[in-house]
Amino acid sequence: MIKLKNITGKKLKLIDLDMKYLDDMYEYSSNPRMYEYFEFEAHKTKNETKSYLKKLIKRSNKKNAHWWFIQLKKTSKIIGSFGVHDIDRIKNSCEISYAISPKYWGKNVFSEVMEIVLEYLVNDLSFHRITATTARENIRSIKGIQKYNFVQEAILKDYYLNSDNERYDAVILSLVQNKKINSKLDVSSKSPTFTNIKDKHISQIIKIKDKNSKFPNKELEHVLDVLGNNGTNFINKLEARFKKLFNQKYAIACNSGTSGLHASLAALDLEYGDEIIVPGLTVVMDAYAAIHLGATPVFADVDPKTFLITAESIKKKLTKKTKAVIVVSLQGLPVDIDPIMKLAKKYGFYVIEDNAQDFMGTYKNRISGCSGDVGIWSFENKKHLSGATEGGMICTNNKKLATKIRKFAGIGYKNMTATGGRTSLAISQVQDPNYKRFDTIGLNYRMPNIVAAVSLGQLESYKSIISRRQKVAAIFRKAIKGCNWLQEQNIPNNCTHTHYTFAVRYSGDKHFGLSWKSFYNKYLKLGGDGFYGACVCPHLEPSIQQYIKDSGYNKKISTPIAEKIQKEIMQFKTNYRDLEIAQQKANILKKLINSLNKS
Ligand SMILES: Cc1ncc(COP(=O)(O)O)c(C=O)c1O
Repeated sequence: MIKLKNITGKKLKLIDLDMKYLDDMYEYSSNPRMYEYFEFEAHKTKNETKSYLKKLIKRSNKKNAHWWFIQLKKTSKIIGSFGVHDIDRIKNSCEISYAISPKYWGKNVFSEVMEIVLEYLVNDLSFHRITATTARENIRSIKGIQKYNFVQEAILKDYYLNSDNERYDAVILSLVQNKKINSKLDVSSKSPTFTNIKDKHISQIIKIKDKNSKFPNKELEHVLDVLGNNGTNFINKLEARFKKLFNQKYAIACNSGTSGLHASLAALDLEYGDEIIVPGLTVVMDAYAAIHLGATPVFADVDPKTFLITAESIKKKLTKKTKAVIVVSLQGLPVDIDPIMKLAKKYGFYVIEDNAQDFMGTYKNRISGCSGDVGIWSFENKKHLSGATEGGMICTNNKKLATKIRKFAGIGYKNMTATGGRTSLAISQVQDPNYKRFDTIGLNYRMPNIVAAVSLGQLESYKSIISRRQKVAAIFRKAIKGCNWLQEQNIPNNCTHTHYTFAVRYSGDKHFGLSWKSFYNKYLKLGGDGFYGACVCPHLEPSIQQYIKDSGYNKKISTPIAEKIQKEIMQFKTNYRDLEIAQQKANILKKLINSLNKS
């Protein structure tokens, strides 16, 4: 049972309720601002306050609740009330409620009350789970209370409307003590108990919120918002942020980079046999998108230094049937897009920019991926921005294309537009059995709201995500400095590279007869992290080889540079979240380089 004692802080005291403070209480409880956040009204008469106070005193005498007045030590004035209620002695949990005179809002009263109440609840009464509903501003104060080992278990967003119908964000905050306390009433050791389940969640939350985690920012809050069924449309929010950041008129969220490529090409009204030029060195998905639409992928060679498709290599592959080119900013290096756009204008083909491996790289001070007709991005888990699972985005300034893309990726609902899928029809019309919904044959490539929630959290912190990858690349660059058999992917002066990986060409086999795989094994043996080889050239993958055989494919494939450098490329990871670990791995690489140079 809760002890009835007065508790004291630096400037405040919590004292037991007493009718003699009725005037003070009426002064704040009759203030309408006080109730802006809550559903009930300010007290209009002193009698109302009186009966309310009586009710609190009565409740305080019960076992599962206790209320205090908050008193200023200096003047003995009562400036609020504070209650502990819904006390559960099995779970050692309780809820807290408070009312503080608006005159003292923003004066740290809440922080001090929380401090003294927690001291009392935790040390004297052994509570370790406390729930409170509070305005968003107070979270700062609550977060500060770390000495009791409390963590925020969940923030459930809610809102209240004030008298002017303004929306105020509020939160229901559950604080759970991380470290077990020596309470005789703690039943957590008897598994499986509620407390045990909660403890598991808390350690998971702590892990997620660690600064070196993959999702340390707002991702968790956004996901909780989705699971809490609060109705937030994160897809709209993500699309809006993306549009703004990339300065594009239309952004369409989809469920992967691959579906983004497919929907983009589908919007071009391709005819059977139309040709789509793709790089000879990239992932298979660029060619797959064309094949799925009955178009023919044509493979263009790449530059040996940048590893990227160029205007010259595209030009060699142009025919009357060329409908589009997919350019790929491989490893995060923007493509030399201006000459390609010039060519596109001259010969009349579309340019789709595949930025799955690049996010906010720059080309001539412009953000890469926004110069062509359509740009696509991937939020697959390893990409710069992760949707935790899969995800993608399509951007364009072309309204016609945007409408077609959205419809194709959204099952072809007739009411879909370039900007969204809303209908102004009355619900009774939509519910009518004669209501016809579809005017386009599409696919369900829509992004799930929960993926948008994670991706938005990532987008909100994109700068640190990119800069960390660039820092890791700089660490590895330093490690290979002066090594003439590891040649970094060349970054032209007019570009910034966002380093999906740190990619180099290896020629150690020629220098001292050590194969790619032997070098890889030696690096692993020394404690290195491994590294990726480049994807096999798409036309050499069995899937596309089979397609070539089955479809009567008659285009000559000649991509000697792509085939050569694919075998040489080493892609070092840049997604270390702890730069010290990246440095350790780079030191191992340096050590291996030195030992091979001496041998
Ligand atoms: C260059 C490139 N294009 C497209 C994709 C496809 O993206 P997703 O995995 O999201 O379908 C990837 C994914 O690895 C990629 O690297």
